[in-house]
Amino acid sequence: MATEIFDKLNVIIDEIESAQPANSQDLESFRIKYLGTKNILKPLSGEIRNIPNEKRRDFGLLINKAKQAAEQKFESIKVALSSAQDEEAASKLDLTAPGEPVELGSRHPIALTMNRIIKIFERIGFVVAEEREIEDDWHNFTAMNTPEDHPARDMQDTFYLKDSTTMLLRTHTSPVQARVMTSQKPPIRIIAPGRVYRNETVSARSHCQFHQVEGLYVDKNVSFADMKQTLLYFAREMFGPDVKIRLRPSFFPFTEPSAEMDVYLGTATEKDYRLTKGTGWLEILGCGMVDPKVLENCGIDSDEYTGFAFGMGIERQALRLYDIADIRSFFENDIRFLKQFSSVM
Ligand code: PHE
Repeated sequence: MATEIFDKLNVIIDEIESAQPANSQDLESFRIKYLGTKNILKPLSGEIRNIPNEKRRDFGLLINKAKQAAEQKFESIKVALSSAQDEEAASKLDLTAPGEPVELGSRHPIALTMNRIIKIFERIGFVVAEEREIEDDWHNFTAMNTPEDHPARDMQDTFYLKDSTTMLLRTHTSPVQARVMTSQKPPIRIIAPGRVYRNETVSARSHCQFHQVEGLYVDKNVSFADMKQTLLYFAREMFGPDVKIRLRPSFFPFTEPSAEMDVYLGTATEKDYRLTKGTGWLEILGCGMVDPKVLENCGIDSDEYTGFAFGMGIERQALRLYDIADIRSFFENDIRFLKQFSSVM
């Protein structure tokens, strides 16, 4: 009986020593068989009870020899296999193959248009002021001289935050005027690009979210002529040196006098005909001299200072610039649409 077990063990040791696992799968079966929790040596070591005393020491040594042989074999095969894998990977690496291209995104046409406008004004000394989209009633309306009973304040026109009568999504970029004038001293010369919200029915021509660039210039002796010249400069940079502008009298609670500015694009192309509804004129902004009341609301002495302000819509200019038919495509995030625009600027 005892010799039988010794023979069995010796056979196993031979097996271990001659084993040649050729890949990681074979190696794993080898590990399970000789080193795993249910390895075949375990039941054999239990047989020590049946070994006569004088042979137990030899038996123990043989069991240990088997274990060690299995461990050594396992480690050496493991090392050999992993270096073979490295070599194989290295031999497959083709250093002459062209690299994987990194896909570049593209800028959104609204951002491109906005950046163009910003650059035009930066050239004549305006600096960018960015502010929050969630505003309070005071900055959006009260400071801007918009009376309590003004229709713009109606829930129908303005998105108020849930359960709030004072916090809202700004309806124009004009509250940035109030933010800047209450925190900086004149001379002030800023432009404020950003997103605005109005509760309007979504169609090809209007949307409940859109973008504006606000402008504000406050200093001593700022005149209406300064404003007109600044806006003419802008129109020429944006639409070409031959563009004509016209100012039509208008009304805004925060400017006096107020005007709206149109640029003349003509009706030569079908897109300009459509965009200008057949008139050739495209309305792009509202403007005017900052109402003295607004200066006072913001702590600026209206006897000493005057200013002009303007607010322009971006979407319509982007439609023209990039020949886009429907305002809704700006907000649909359709990759096929967005991919068409340049990734620079
Ligand atoms: N805030 C006005 C609007 O959204 C535009 C405007 C800005 C008019 C500044 C005058 C001065 O229509």
